[in-house]
This record gives sequence, C-alpha cells and structure tokens, in this order.
Amino acid sequence: MSRFYITTPIYYVNDAPHVGHAYTTVNADALARWHRLIGDEVFFLTGTDEHGQKVARAAEEHGVTPKEWTDQLAPRFASAWSDLDIANDDFIRTTEPRHQRAVQQFLTRIYENGWIVKDTYRGLYCVACEQYYGEDELLEGGLCPIHRTPVDLLEEENYFFRLSAFEEQLIAWYEANPTAVVPEAKRNEALSFIRGGLRDISITRTSIDWGVAVPWDEKHVFYVWYDALINYLTAIGYGEDEARFESWWPVVHHLIGKEIIRFHCVWWPAMCMAAGIDPPAQVQVHGWLLVGGEKMSKSSLNQISPGELTADYGVDPVRYHLLRDTPLGSDGDFSAEGITSRYNADLANNLGNLLSRVATVVGSKCGGVGPAPDPDSRLSDVAVTALAEASAAWNAGLPHLGLEATWRLIRETNAELETAEPWKAEPGPGVDAVLGSALEVLRLVAILVSPAMPSTAAEIWRRIGLEGSPAEQTLPAAGAWGGYPAGRPVEKGAPLFPRRKG
Ligand code: MSP
Repeated sequence: MSRFYITTPIYYVNDAPHVGHAYTTVNADALARWHRLIGDEVFFLTGTDEHGQKVARAAEEHGVTPKEWTDQLAPRFASAWSDLDIANDDFIRTTEPRHQRAVQQFLTRIYENGWIVKDTYRGLYCVACEQYYGEDELLEGGLCPIHRTPVDLLEEENYFFRLSAFEEQLIAWYEANPTAVVPEAKRNEALSFIRGGLRDISITRTSIDWGVAVPWDEKHVFYVWYDALINYLTAIGYGEDEARFESWWPVVHHLIGKEIIRFHCVWWPAMCMAAGIDPPAQVQVHGWLLVGGEKMSKSSLNQISPGELTADYGVDPVRYHLLRDTPLGSDGDFSAEGITSRYNADLANNLGNLLSRVATVVGSKCGGVGPAPDPDSRLSDVAVTALAEASAAWNAGLPHLGLEATWRLIRETNAELETAEPWKAEPGPGVDAVLGSALEVLRLVAILVSPAMPSTAAEIWRRIGLEGSPAEQTLPAAGAWGGYPAGRPVEKGAPLFPRRKG
C-alpha cells in the first residue's frame, strides 16, 4: 500500500479565512480523498500559523492578548473547513506545546550541526510578509512587491542560518529530483533563484516575544517562518515518535500558493538538509484566485468568506467550482458569474439532468427498479477511457482534468439517451439495457466525483439504490464496467441542482 502525506500551508490567524485559503484547502482535501479512493494510506494536515509580529499586531488592534486572539481565530479556520466538508486528519496550531517541542529540537539540531551562527542584521522588513527584502526587490518608492506598502528599516542582533552553504547541495537535489517542485516552471523559478546566489538568513528576533524561544539563548525567539515550516514535521511525530515520523517522511506533498515558493523550495529543503533529514519529496505550487485582477487577500479588502458562498450555492457546488475552474498552477478569476455559469452548465444541465432523467424513466418504464447494465454498451468503452484519463489526472495532482474527463462521460451518456429516447420506447429488454447502462455510468460517476463533491456522490449512490457509499469503494477494481446490480429501487427525488438565474 502506498502512503500519501499531503499538507496545506498553515494559515495566518491575523484575520478570518477567505476563499483564497479555501481554494488550497479544498484542492488538498480532494487530492487526499482521491488517494484514499485508490487505496493509499493518507495523512492530510492543515492548521494555523499563530506566532509573529503580524498576528501580535492584529491582537493588539483588537485589544486582546495574542493568546486570546489566536484562541478565537484558530477555531474559525477549523469550522470553516468542517463547513466545507474538509476531511483533514489533523489540525495543527503552532502555539501547541507539541509544536514548540518540535521547533526547539529541530533548530537545536541545526545549531549543533554548526549551521546557525550569531550576527548583526540590518534590513528592510515587510511586516505583512514577515520577510526582509533587498532594496532591488522593492517596488518604486521602496514599497513591498506583494503588499505595495512601505517597509520598515530594522536592525537587530540575531542568529543566522547559513543558507549560502547549501547552494550546491540544493542544485544537486533539484537536478536529481526533477519533479521535486511542480509545475516545471515553478521548479525553474526555484532553481534560478538558487543559482543566482543565496545569502545567509536571519532566523531569530529579539524585538518581539510572541514566538518559540531559542532554547540556547532565551532573549531570542525564532522568526515566524522557521517556526511555521516545522509544523509539517511536528504533526508526524518528529523527535517524539521516530517510527511514525519515518513512515511519513520524506514522502510528503506540500501544496502551496506561488508567493511562498522561496520558503518551501529553498529555505525549507536546506533546513532539512542541515538537520540531517531528507528534503520534502514534492512541492506543488498553485496560482492565485483573483478578484477583478487582484489577488484575493486580507490586506486588499477583496476577500470573500467561504461561508457566504456556501450559504448561497451549497457546499459541493463551491467545492466543484474551486476545483474545476482554476487549474492548479494557473491564476483564476473569481466571480459570481463564473460560479453560476459553471453551476448551470455542469451541475444543473449535465450531472443533475442525467440523474433526474434516468430516475424518472426507470420510474415510468421499469417500475422504479434498476435494470442491469448492458455488457456490450458503447458507454462501457467511453467509461473505460474516462476512468483512465481521470485517474491519470488525479494522480498527477490535477483535479480540473480529472473532472473534465468525468464530465465527458456524463455528456456522452446524456447524448446516448437522447439518441435512444427510452422515454418514448415500449418497456422491454431494449429500454432495460439503455437504462441499466446509464445507471452504471451514474455509479461510476458517483465514485469519480466523490473526491470533489462527497455528499453529492453519496446522494447519487443512495438514489440509485446502492448500499454503503462511493467513498468506501476502491479503484481501479470498483471501476470495472458492470458493477451496478440489477433489482435495486431507484428514487426520483427533487433536482440535485436546480438551475440558477444569478
Ligand atoms: N502562514 C504562512 C504559511 C506558512 S506554511 C509553513 C502564510 N499564510 S497565509 O495565511 O498568508 O496563507 C497563504 C496560503 O493561502 C497561500 O500560499 C495559498 O495557499 C492560500 N491563499 C491565500 N490567498 C490566496 C488566493 N488569493 N488565491 C489562492 N490561494 C491563496 O503564508
């Protein structure tokens, strides 16, 4: 059995979750569900990043302590994810004692290995990014390239990670592991950054105390990023449960947004090397959801809450839209028109229509009892192709292509019904064969859409009279044509996806 350890970035708790965060989390959830479906042992981790100046400032602005603030905000992320039907196996908060222990152990290991040294640092710092910038990286007027706000000049005595010593090792690692960062363009971006020369980086602060203390020099706390990245190790038992840790590391799949490539594809693998563990096996980089051409973000006030959307469209349509319309790797525009037109085309007109017409005609021509699929149906070939294409896409971490292949099967089946017109024919073996095959397609479709729309899949399964749930099936075995058993009651029910006007 293979193992699949998938992570999202841990989100800052300076404000509530928005749809940009939901985009990553839903994609990670769908990939985790896909891997469970093919029989992998899966561990899916998400959580919150709670230390650092940005969070401390947010707490101060609200007149509460950082601890009070993070205790209020972290549950909002957890409940946003449960509202979106996210089935994470763990939710990590960086303020938990287990994490503090892992951070201290991991960084002490690097220190003892000689890769952390003390020095004075002077630099231009963006608080919103929690990052120093070189002057050449700033926009005109000395503004942060991400937030377009002024940076602060900071000077402090702190500890440095000797990143520059890892240049060659990182290049060798990427050359030996061509898929360590996907898509390839992002791998090239990481590699060219490394080839451009690496500077040592400051990893501690004395100016704030909202962080994990440096165990060998307690005036300092670790800078938030060097605390945060380690969450990926904490959750699998780093330093506490060696057997568990080794069963999940380094076969990890980090899903991240493109603005945090350097942290995940340069700093992080180098830190792992410095601590004597393997770098993460794979980082998958995705683009941004844009609103009117701008990145949806807390600082731009263009954020949309996932709860508002699901209240309006329903959970599964929102999940489907996030997975289907912005391919992992590209930027995508987020708009009400986009989600509505996708809903009407794919969910109301195609999937919803297929289910409702099949159930209706089974009601009128077969007494509401599902007939057996035709072993020689033309649809069996279409289904074999769709399953193969969908599987390849999901395995490659591309849900939009997996869904596209599934919708080709749905469309072909609707077309087949329009040609055969079983609603006009006399009941009998001909009608049974057509409807049995359409029910078989619905069974396969329920399995294939279950990573994207778990409750829709379960409802289709139930309505066509099957026991258990699609998520309990295992591919490829459950994908063989002919698995729909005849003789089950088929329920007509209300439309799954009533058409929307706006
Ligand atoms: N706390 C750090 C990550 C530490 S990981 C060790 C952080 N947090 S964040 O709250 O700013 O979240 C960043 C992540 O949220 C992005 O990398 C991306 O996965 C997701 N997104 C935030 N806004 C987004 C969009 N507008 N579009 C797509 N994803 C977005 O950085």
